[in-house]
Amino acid sequence: MVQSFENLTLKQVKKLAADLSTQLNNSRAKIGLVGSLGSGKTTFAKQFAHRLGRIRLKSPTFTVIDTHKFGKKILHHIDLYRLRHYSELRAIGFEELLQPNTVILIEWADKFRQVAKQCGLLIEFKFTPQHNRRDVKITFK
Ligand SMILES: Nc1ncnc2c1ncn2[C@@H]1O[C@H](COP(=O)(O)OP(=O)(O)O)[C@@H](O)[C@H]1O
Ligand SMILES: [Mg+2]
Repeated sequence: MVQSFENLTLKQVKKLAADLSTQLNNSRAKIGLVGSLGSGKTTFAKQFAHRLGRIRLKSPTFTVIDTHKFGKKILHHIDLYRLRHYSELRAIGFEELLQPNTVILIEWADKFRQVAKQCGLLIEFKFTPQHNRRDVKITFK
């Protein structure tokens, strides 16, 4: 199922993130965030994590994986921006991250086809600077 949202304000994007954080299930434990630099991926991730478990995310660009515990659950926040090969991600344990009670948010999920394929929820951000316009497309697999 695909849902498209056009010309969203910052407030509307945050509402969308908050709403989606309440609609998780096992098949949606891996969430891919896709879109160019500045399109709104981290903004979405931060709001999502805040609503999910009052988690304060930082930008993980330098760390690749940031892990946060909330209650008995775990959220991994991943940024693939600086990686060049899927093997680098596998080497840091990506394939073992998905456990029960785990949510994984992956920025730049389209960088490696293996990763995008695994995401039960894919959220694509499109920013058109000339019109200061932001569209969001959500694919539920
Ligand atoms: N829907 C929106 N409307 C206006 N500004 C937005 C919106 N979404 C994000 N922004 C702003 O755009 C900037 C870049 O967003 P960010 O989430 O860091 O992008 P990315 O992680 O994709 O590089 C931030 O200053 C953020 O506040
Ligand atoms: Mg970012």
